Amino acid sequence: MGLLNGKTAIITGAARGIGKAIALRYAAEGANIAFTDLLIDENAKKTEAEIAAFGVKVKGYASNAANFEETANVVAEIVKEFGRVDILVNNAGITKDGLMMRMSEAQWDAVINVNLKSAFNFIHACLPVMMRQKSGSIINMSSVVGVHGNAGQANYSASKAGMIGLAKSIAQEVGSRGIRANAIAPGFIITDMTAALSDEVKAEWAKKIPLRRGGTPEDIADVATFLASDMSSYVSGQVIQVDGGMNM
Ligand code: NAI
Repeated sequence: MGLLNGKTAIITGAARGIGKAIALRYAAEGANIAFTDLLIDENAKKTEAEIAAFGVKVKGYASNAANFEETANVVAEIVKEFGRVDILVNNAGITKDGLMMRMSEAQWDAVINVNLKSAFNFIHACLPVMMRQKSGSIINMSSVVGVHGNAGQANYSASKAGMIGLAKSIAQEVGSRGIRANAIAPGFIITDMTAALSDEVKAEWAKKIPLRRGGTPEDIADVATFLASDMSSYVSGQVIQVDGGMNM
């Protein structure tokens, strides 16, 4: 018996990284998985096959999470195919770092649209389904820098702080309909996103982590499984930092 047997999850940006780890963990717990990414290429097809190996239903959908109309269409397709949406993980995200003085409007808009507007798009499309079901768990992928801020990441930090405000507001709006919303704020997690950082920056981060290691996508997937499952049925409007005890 899995923790998520019979549930259907939508996970955005899950062809790789943290989203993929969450998809695999959910599948191991018995959930059917609809995941999205910009492209369903060879790598995404491989992800799909790895998920299918758990014996659950799975389909990867090509969709730009930042696009409102595309999101409405893809959620409609998913509902037609899977019949329900029990779990929504707003995971798709990008960075376009730079100091404010040098940040372009395009850098700001891209990060806000992919990281924050995408969550609005998906919550907007999924809520009517969850309202009908009178249940649902929404998980927004925030970041420790959404809680503390970070020099050189004003756009990213603002988008991730927005993910917290969004989750807390949705928790208040639709809690009476049995729908929960929470945010996860990962610290330094080893994925393609952080691989791009210099060794000096990585060493600086490591000094701030009492557990003395970077996190793994699986560390985040564990908490995402708790928040998706009935084990957290009285947890809503919360931000859970998964950061090895990091002191920012
Ligand atoms: P990643 O870069 O490895 O994976 C992100 C995925 O999102 C990719 O598959 C990418 O193609 C997809 N994506 C990008 N734009 C998209 C769009 N417009 N529509 C649909 N999919 C799109 O990143 P990672 O590290 O797995 O991050 C996942 C989430 O966790 C992001 O929201 C990130 O901001 C957040 N996070 C990551 C941390 C880290 O240390 N890696 C720390 C804190 C938060």
